[in-house]
Amino acid sequence: MPPGSPCLLWLLVVTYSVVPAAQPLAAGDLEEEQDETPLPAVPCDYDRCRHLQVPCRELQKASPTACLCPGLSSASQPPNPPRLGEVRVEAEVGRAVVHWCAPYSPVHQYWLLLWEGGGAPQKGSPLNSTVRRAELNGLKPGGAYIVCVVAANAAGESSVPRAGVEGLDGAGGPTFGPCGRLSVPPRPLTLLHAAVGVGSALALISGAALVWHFCLRDRWGCPHRGRASQAGL
Ligand SMILES: *[C@@H]1O[C@H](CO)[C@@H](O)[C@H](O)[C@H]1NC(C)=O
Repeated sequence: MPPGSPCLLWLLVVTYSVVPAAQPLAAGDLEEEQDETPLPAVPCDYDRCRHLQVPCRELQKASPTACLCPGLSSASQPPNPPRLGEVRVEAEVGRAVVHWCAPYSPVHQYWLLLWEGGGAPQKGSPLNSTVRRAELNGLKPGGAYIVCVVAANAAGESSVPRAGVEGLDGAGGPTFGPCGRLSVPPRPLTLLHAAVGVGSALALISGAALVWHFCLRDRWGCPHRGRASQAGL
């Protein structure tokens, strides 16, 4: 062996022992880092469309474990418009139940605006920030309305697309904004009248059929009876 070979061997041994040793060390460092800073990856139990939903910031404060809230627009800006959800019309009682979803903004209160034809809208009473559902009462049978949800905070109120309100007449299907159309079917009494009408017509027809039937039986019956009596004689 040449005299330099133990030195080279030593170098090789050192190189190979350092490389495997470095890997567990690096892994250990990573584990330590993860233990030190646990990330709150769980979203809070917050649904912006749920009625009587406690604001997410309050859920976060009350929660024993950390959870994530959706980002909100600045509190120094008026809120973004809420999104109108299901509008369920109860025509018999002239009522509609309106649902909506909160915007991703700080909100202090909501209210509804109701247009009947042209002119100024009726403004509903203010509702607190947990509310996502409200009733509209006194709707007329056969009436057509436009309803909008407004959100407000200290900086102002969410916008209502005034041009959009007029433009809603052309738009069909689901809306993604704060407004929607609302049409109340004609009074069920009208339907009742129609049913009574159809019923009377049916009664008249069956009456006429009965008269016709008896009339025919009389016409056919009389000669028969006559013939029978003749045969009997
Ligand atoms: C918000 O309003 C709803 C419905 O009127 C009510 O049930 C609820 O207690 C109110 N919440 C707060 C925090 O005022």
